[in-house]
Amino acid sequence: MWASHAWRAGTVALAVGFSSAGGPPLGVGLVAGQAPQERDQRLYPALQREPGDPEVVARGQAVYGISCRACHGQDLRGGDLGGPNLLRSQLVLKDDGGDLMGPVIRDGQTGVGGSSMPPQNLLPDDVAAVVEYIHDVLGTASRQGGPPPGEEVELDILVGDATAGQTYFANRCASCHSPTGDLEGIGARISRPQELQNTWVRGGAQNAEPPPVTVTVTHPSGERVTGTLERLNDFLVVLTEADGRHRSFSRRGDTPRVEVDDPMSAHREMLPLYGDTDIHNVTAYLVTLQ
Ligand code: HEC
Ligand code: HEC
Repeated sequence: MWASHAWRAGTVALAVGFSSAGGPPLGVGLVAGQAPQERDQRLYPALQREPGDPEVVARGQAVYGISCRACHGQDLRGGDLGGPNLLRSQLVLKDDGGDLMGPVIRDGQTGVGGSSMPPQNLLPDDVAAVVEYIHDVLGTASRQGGPPPGEEVELDILVGDATAGQTYFANRCASCHSPTGDLEGIGARISRPQELQNTWVRGGAQNAEPPPVTVTVTHPSGERVTGTLERLNDFLVVLTEADGRHRSFSRRGDTPRVEVDDPMSAHREMLPLYGDTDIHNVTAYLVTLQ
């Protein structure tokens, strides 16, 4: 039941999907005698634009990458630091040439839920350029023939290529996981794509207990002690042996030798290496593991 469109705007991968229902956006009544397309365009000035000046758009894209992306996401759909999805923002959709966005960008905004955006200290030209860029991304969406991203439209993260995801998985994940072993049926077990994506990127459900970190301490005599790591700093290593006994050893430089095995380190180390496309592809693939 997923209908998706994926395209590129400049070098920013933009992926937006629309529900196949395709009805009018919530809260927008059909105006009698008017084609849906006309109705939408009248209500959403952001969507009736011609492509912007490429130079300004490129500058805006650069400004966005530096000043907005961490909070609003690479593709404007919300980011790690809590900025909302700008493609679904009524304020953005109703903005005309920065009349609504400009003040938010300059002065910041605090929402009812207590979330807040700090003022962005930008040159007026940079504000204008980033506004132009955001409109360009939205305008691209409308020129692709999709309905405007109104309230009722579920943005769909299933925009990836499952086959490419399978290849990625074989190269990067299969040393630890198997689609017919530990991850069998994960697409059915975690049926919400966003949750599935968060789970694999994180390497476990949000509240899951991470697997224990194991440490092996090897003394100059050759004696080895292995257990669950409790504490490690330059001077001390504390572990719990399999029988529950706590052991503590002082450290001086490399003596005794301490080897840590953290099963989750792979997931942490991979995090900065994923591109948006990889993430979408792997998610699309995992969804097929029903
Ligand atoms: C530190 C994180 C952060 C940064 C950086 C940031 N924003 Fe925001 N932005 C937010 C948050 C959080 C909100 C929601 C505030 C609220 O609840 O009203 C928001 C709201 C907005 C809104 C209003 C959306 C609406 O529907 O009310 C716009 C437009 C916007 N940001 C654009 C930008 C642009 C453009 C930039 C870069 C120049 C930027 N933001 C930088 C966090 C950020
Ligand atoms: C070096 C080993 C290693 C690699 C490589 C690795 N993982 Fe993991 N992954 C783990 C460990 C350890 C866990 C924690 C759960 C467990 O003990 O199985 C985990 C957890 C997960 C989970 C949660 C499983 C569940 O049942 O909740 C998913 C999904 C997952 N990884 C997907 C991936 C994907 C996709 C890749 C490749 C992009 C990947 N992993 C690469 C070691 C690895």
